[in-house]
Amino acid sequence: MAPNKLPAYQAPVSVSDEARIKQVRRIFSTITDRYDFLNHFLSAGRDIGWRRFMVRRLRFFRTHRLLDLATGTGDVAIEAARTHSRLQIFGLDFAAPMLAAARSKILRAALADRISNLQGDALNLPFPDGHFDTVTMAFGIRNMPDRARVLQEIHRALVPGGGLYILEFTTPQGRLFRKLYFFYLNRFLPRLARLFTSNPEAYQYLAESIMHFPYPDDFVHEIEQAGFAEAKKFPLTGGITYLYEGRKAVG
Ligand SMILES: C[S@@+](CC[C@H](N)C(=O)[O-])C[C@H]1O[C@@H](n2cnc3c(N)ncnc32)[C@H](O)[C@@H]1O
Repeated sequence: MAPNKLPAYQAPVSVSDEARIKQVRRIFSTITDRYDFLNHFLSAGRDIGWRRFMVRRLRFFRTHRLLDLATGTGDVAIEAARTHSRLQIFGLDFAAPMLAAARSKILRAALADRISNLQGDALNLPFPDGHFDTVTMAFGIRNMPDRARVLQEIHRALVPGGGLYILEFTTPQGRLFRKLYFFYLNRFLPRLARLFTSNPEAYQYLAESIMHFPYPDDFVHEIEQAGFAEAKKFPLTGGITYLYEGRKAVG
């Protein structure tokens, strides 16, 4: 970390990875009915543009298969199917209610022949080595305590030359913007969420998970550590969200 950087946020209580995973699964299984609405509302609709920016950068060259991890209600998978013809898309998530919501949207969009969903854990991908040209994940990685393991699994599942694309929130590093953003996350967002969902714990968790995620340069380093080449990052909307990319080296 650069010496003049503000210290990364430390969560007030530490829970085991296993407890964290159970908590995440429970949370995403209980907020499904409001998930899309709150996503768009709380990001002032920016989330749609962030996913679109990522999807337009995807490249397909050999298997024409895309794996969308933590697919949730399927927005990345649907956007990718609309943007790239000939693609076969697999969406994976461990929360069954999120996948059920994705399924309804995929059917409504008449994309069921292009997108398959499966319930599974990003830490143990049920696919052979070198199966995908591209792996995406939008707003999923910060929920996964063992990021190194997830990145290694993605690396394994990609063909040589294949691309990793991850969208994730981060906390701004400028003092003032950071203060305002922490206020929004800790005070404003949970109150707002209370109006719309029966599970405000979910939005307390959301705030904590964002504040806990590494700084962009540190996450780029984690991507490199997992064996990816050409790791890079793109700030979106003043740096509250980043797109991260990496490539599996050829040969
Ligand atoms: C914030 S949602 C993002 C959903 C979607 N990608 C989007 O852009 O809206 C995070 C998703 O990650 C899933 N998830 C978290 N940890 C997971 C894991 N280890 N394996 C599979 N899915 C996971 C949750 O169930 C949830 O649906």
